[in-house]
Amino acid sequence: MAVTGASLLVVAGCKSLPASKPEALFSIEEQRGQIVYQVKCAKCHYPTTTHGLHGPGLQALTKVPAMPSGAPPTDERLTQTILRGHGMMESIPVAPQDMPDLLAYLHTL
Ligand code: HEC
Repeated sequence: MAVTGASLLVVAGCKSLPASKPEALFSIEEQRGQIVYQVKCAKCHYPTTTHGLHGPGLQALTKVPAMPSGAPPTDERLTQTILRGHGMMESIPVAPQDMPDLLAYLHTL
């Protein structure tokens, strides 16, 4: 059978998105990234649902083929979205040494 579980999940919509990684299993890097997220992103984005706050909820952000804009959720594209801003989202200053942690955390969502 050629249809994989992952593609079925995408077709089924947001209620069936892959679950976020449990916080208890976070690496040190992911824990640091979560703190960066709470300071820089949480006021506008829910991390574990796709429901919108000021911006779209980011559940499964890096596990779906495309972000709300249609762009692929690559680390490069995410870094660009954060540092340069995107549409209604202002640019967010994240220190270069914090960016790998933040990206690691975004991959757990
Ligand atoms: C002041 C509110 C605000 C903050 C803070 C904020 N965002 Fe956003 N974000 C938005 C809004 C609004 C959008 C929708 C932009 C649009 O589509 O015009 C958005 C969109 C996005 C998108 C989707 C981009 C796409 O291509 O569809 C991602 C990913 C994202 N934000 C990540 C982050 C991350 C990570 C942080 C923290 C570093 C962050 N945002 C901080 C408001 C915010």
